[in-house]
Amino acid sequence: MRIVVFAILLLFYNVCFAKDIINNSFITDYEYGAMLYENPRGIGCNKCHDRGDKSVIIAKYKNKKNETKTLNSPAINNVPFEKFVDVLTTKRGSSNIMPSYFLTNDEIKSIYFYLKNLKK
Ligand code: HEC
Repeated sequence: MRIVVFAILLLFYNVCFAKDIINNSFITDYEYGAMLYENPRGIGCNKCHDRGDKSVIIAKYKNKKNETKTLNSPAINNVPFEKFVDVLTTKRGSSNIMPSYFLTNDEIKSIYFYLKNLKK
């Protein structure tokens, strides 16, 4: 009898402990999205969009009339999901600045989740 109680206690302890390991060693959805945002198998989104919550100047240049022009990237934390997917899955021509990416749907969802939940 005592052994059975002990075994049950041990099992209970193991289950609690296992839960602990799962909570601590698996990264959260937010962290996964953040990681992909900075390292999406290609140039990181942060390189042009910074944190993603405001328009950023990517470059300044002079045009043929010698006027100074700026090239901006838009804020991307309030883009409708359909558009977000579209931008990241459309093959890009050389005239566009946004690079082509080869992200899976789940990866795109993770980046979107991250941007929607940006910590201040
Ligand atoms: C080389 C710079 C650059 C990088 C890197 C980049 N972007 Fe962009 N992005 C732009 C520019 C510039 C635009 C504006 C449209 C255009 O010129 O293609 C844009 C547009 C967008 C848009 C559309 C926003 C709108 O309202 O139209 C989304 C969404 C977006 N980027 C998400 C991302 C994500 C997510 C990543 C990383 C996987 C990324 N971008 C990487 C430069 C970049």
